[in-house]
Amino acid sequence: MRPQPADDQERLNLIFETLDRINELSATHTVLVEGVKDIAALKNSGVEAQFFCVQSGGGPVRAAEALWKSGKSAIILTDWDRRGNTLAEDLKMNLVTLGVKFDRDIRADLSFLCKPYAKDVESLDSVILHLQKRILESQRGCNMKGKIVVVEGIDGSGKSTMCSRLAERLEGKGYRVRMTAEPTHDRIGAIIRSGSIPGISQSTEALLFIADRNDHTEAMERWAEDGAIVICDRYFASTIAYQSSGLDGTDVDRGWLLSMSERFVDTPDLTILLDIDPGISMARVSSRGEEISKFEKLEFLRRVREEYLRLAEEFGFEVIDASEDPESVVEEAMRRIEEVL
Ligand code: TYD
Repeated sequence: MRPQPADDQERLNLIFETLDRINELSATHTVLVEGVKDIAALKNSGVEAQFFCVQSGGGPVRAAEALWKSGKSAIILTDWDRRGNTLAEDLKMNLVTLGVKFDRDIRADLSFLCKPYAKDVESLDSVILHLQKRILESQRGCNMKGKIVVVEGIDGSGKSTMCSRLAERLEGKGYRVRMTAEPTHDRIGAIIRSGSIPGISQSTEALLFIADRNDHTEAMERWAEDGAIVICDRYFASTIAYQSSGLDGTDVDRGWLLSMSERFVDTPDLTILLDIDPGISMARVSSRGEEISKFEKLEFLRRVREEYLRLAEEFGFEVIDASEDPESVVEEAMRRIEEVL
């Protein structure tokens, strides 16, 4: 009898070690699985190997013949469910007949480790996810503080989509996520958004953005304290970049904006700047067919972008090229977030 792993973390480590063993053997071994869904599950779990799908490849006889011709050995991963050992047994007999070497220990190890949660290879990735979630939850039980991640960028840089995608991805990994944005939709934020103060000066508007941020910062700190990962669409850099960039020829002094902001800002754990040429971002904004805001003007946005890049240098923002395809931009952002988690 093997000893049961001491806890979820040990079980997960042992699963990953077993998967690493498959990867190590993959140069000389073909992995025999039952169906195509098993391949997807293994790939999602980080297995890079050559697979042979026994059911769609013609059954145990064909699998054994193919292996014999290739001169490779086999790793049998079919039929984890102890009740249904038939396919694995058939494979074994055919491989023995042709003198093909095979490994069934890996199957037994994975089956043992996943047994409480899975009965087939297909559920391997959900077992891993399940364990990861439980580990995170128990860490949270030990009062794990959350994080504040800010996403910045000019209009049309893809911030909103990025925030939603990051939230989905992090939730999928078991984190509790709180999405938020500035201007907020709360009291002062709502006044700003309504545009209800005609002819408002840039400095007065800057003060409103900062006042809105004062309440919002407190709320974000509470959410993070409570263990959530807060994803905030725009923060103080928006005020510096937009209000100091001379909209309609009226800019606000950068130094004043920075010193005003300082008192009301909490340093985020990470700020991601989605950097993009305003020519491209404005084309995106126009194609949405939405009303164009007073801030969405090409020359102005060029200055905003320059200012953002300057702030990125000063405050150590992570700059990501947002003109790349959306999935790889999300991938890159996730990579940077995972470094601070
Ligand atoms: P935006 O992120 O576009 O909000 P939404 O997508 O919900 O409409 O923000 C609205 C505009 O507000 C945007 O053009 C930038 C501007 N803005 C500032 O000028 N200063 C600030 O401090 C903030 C937070 C936003």
